[in-house]
Amino acid sequence: MTAGFRTAWIIGASSGIGRCVAETLARDGIAVTASARSADALKALAAACPPGIITPLPLDITKPQNIAQAVAAMESDGDLPDVVVLTAAAYQPAAADDLDPELFADIVSVNYLGAVNVLSALLPKLLARGRGHIAITASVAGYRGLPLASAYGPTKAALINLCESLRPECAARGVHLQLINPGFVKTPLTDKNPFPMPCMIAPETAAQRIYQGLKSRRFEITFPKRFTWVMKTLKLLPYSMYFVVINAATGVRKRAAEKRS
Ligand SMILES: NC(=O)c1ccc[n+]([C@@H]2O[C@H](COP(=O)([O-])OP(=O)(O)OC[C@H]3O[C@@H](n4cnc5c(N)ncnc54)[C@H](OP(=O)(O)O)[C@@H]3O)[C@@H](O)[C@H]2O)c1
Repeated sequence: MTAGFRTAWIIGASSGIGRCVAETLARDGIAVTASARSADALKALAAACPPGIITPLPLDITKPQNIAQAVAAMESDGDLPDVVVLTAAAYQPAAADDLDPELFADIVSVNYLGAVNVLSALLPKLLARGRGHIAITASVAGYRGLPLASAYGPTKAALINLCESLRPECAARGVHLQLINPGFVKTPLTDKNPFPMPCMIAPETAAQRIYQGLKSRRFEITFPKRFTWVMKTLKLLPYSMYFVVINAATGVRKRAAEKRS
């Protein structure tokens, strides 16, 4: 064990990045509590790792009582985990002529309000004891609006803003709040994308980057750098230039022409 954590809680551990983060930490000797809704997938994760190192704890982050019960169970077993990593999310591309309010509500309820549920259950306890570490996964899709990301992107922008808002108070009271902003990672989430995804990395690589970042005092953990610096530069552009670049880079005009014909 090298990170200074003995215990971790990964929420969103049944697939993709969260599953790989759980495996990476577990293989380094960290006792991981693994949460998501799919109990079977969590059991399979536990079976794939050294015996007893992963404890499945199925829950739905849209249900505050699920989180409260999980936190109470951990406290009664000893203590809250040394680090909590939230990777749970929902995603669906949404075209401008297909904006489904129910889809938007679902994505807000998992991605944004789910994070609020987790933070509101944990932060008072961590702040009261003056110690703790939470990492929330947003996305570089939260830096600026992107085509087809109208349901997902705003939830990630909201998470970035939420973490920026909370970070100073948390830091002043001994709680290390971090923000994870990945670029494209090959997972079931990105398998839904109908467009080319530049600089895409494997979830195992993403998990290594996250693990390195968790060991640092940095606020933002972002990767792969060759892609995220481009996204950071786009953040700085005035709208007139931003939309020219986005139109050229995403082929949005070509897709619109295909729809018309
Ligand atoms: N992949 C990328 O390129 C990329 C890029 C930037 C940011 N991200 C972010 O990275 C994180 C992980 O994404 P991923 O690509 O690994 O996606 P993924 O493979 O689809 O995994 C999403 C995880 O969230 C869990 N989840 C969904 N709804 C839940 C709920 N209501 N309660 C509890 N758990 C729930 C899923 O498990 P169950 O279905 O079993 O509940 C699953 O474990 C997300 O926050 C995503 O937005 C991903």
